[in-house]
Amino acid sequence: FLALPACARLTLAWTNLKPEGEPARPQALGAFDGAPPVKTIGEWRTSRAPVFREALQREVYGFLPDASQTRVLSHEVINPSAFGGRAVLEEYRLAVAATFNGVSVETTGADEETSFVMDVALPVNAKRPAPVILMETFCQRWNTLPDPAVAGAPEQIERGGGIMTYVFGRYICTPPVDAILDAGYAVATIYPGEIVPDKREEGLKQLRRLSAGYEDDETRWGAVAAWGWAFSRMVDVLADDPRIDQDAVIAWGHSRYAKAALVAAAFDARIDGVIAHQSGTGGASLNREKKGESVKAITDTYPHWFSRAYAGFAGREDEIVIDQHALLALIAPRPVLLGNARRDVWSDPNGAFRAAMGADAVYEMLGSDGLEQGRLDIWKPGADLAFWIRPGTHGVVEEDWPAFLEFLDAHFKADAPS
Ligand code: GCU
Repeated sequence: FLALPACARLTLAWTNLKPEGEPARPQALGAFDGAPPVKTIGEWRTSRAPVFREALQREVYGFLPDASQTRVLSHEVINPSAFGGRAVLEEYRLAVAATFNGVSVETTGADEETSFVMDVALPVNAKRPAPVILMETFCQRWNTLPDPAVAGAPEQIERGGGIMTYVFGRYICTPPVDAILDAGYAVATIYPGEIVPDKREEGLKQLRRLSAGYEDDETRWGAVAAWGWAFSRMVDVLADDPRIDQDAVIAWGHSRYAKAALVAAAFDARIDGVIAHQSGTGGASLNREKKGESVKAITDTYPHWFSRAYAGFAGREDEIVIDQHALLALIAPRPVLLGNARRDVWSDPNGAFRAAMGADAVYEMLGSDGLEQGRLDIWKPGADLAFWIRPGTHGVVEEDWPAFLEFLDAHFKADAPS
């Protein structure tokens, strides 16, 4: 087995993981850390959910700011007829501040030179306020919303982001914007690296700077928490926009930004739904009985992503008190789509399914049907906890966005523009 190349080993590993019977279901409502089981919605809200939030921050993500401020520095229409006349394209320059223990630090961009920019494409001729998809991607804003008017865009935008698309699929950088707008959805995007760079030293430096009032290095926030927080700063601005449907604010992310999208929704009730595609370790996939990426691997390679406390569980994942089903439970009963791929064993689709099984009890308690599928069943786009798995590997490929839109239409149906 060990003599096989890594990809063959991973494929076999997946085959071996195929369930014989029902896998263990982690408990969200059962006894937790010395506390008795939760029996009512009131107990869930007042005693269990706050404990889960605290434990996830203490053991995994680090603590989010006590308060936040978002200032709009400028707001302009940069193209009144973008994407073949489908959208008005607008741009905001923002300054955001995090407060920890009474100390507020504002950032106008991670390198302090550039502002933090948000681009928004709003469908024209919408018959009613549009649902909005908040997106953080690996690529620059002008790749996510390819228009030459986007601040910083080169004269020739490499549609789709070049080499990234060969490796991680056609839609890794540029989503099918025309189809999304035609379906009636607005898109708002930021480049998360403008808030906290995805680089070890620079990232840690910026995280420390923004949390100057926070003293405990063990539980100081990591980039995943900060990127999640950044989703909420987008909501701060869009919450005042009458063109946006305030009951249909969806956080979308792939992989590391899928982790961030889940964190955002778990900590911000203004987010109405999540598409978390291949979120993996530190996202939807459980830490206990870990398959795929270990806590050691993720915290060694990306020391800036999580709190140092999480790295302390490397090699002893089973001792972690909290687990990732708690993150999904905190989003209940709001709709969540967990996207997966069969050969993306690194992201551990099995662990994500088991986390959904664990969170299901909370969905049901809150009046939702939750996860309406067994692991080998066809997915149900209308389920509040929807688990979608396709063939193939890690990335955002042709078949992904039709599934995402099917899920969104089932929950947040936008009127297609006329
Ligand atoms: C790496 C990392 C994952 C992450 C992924 C991504 O593979 O190990 O945890 O999800 O990058 O962001 O694409």
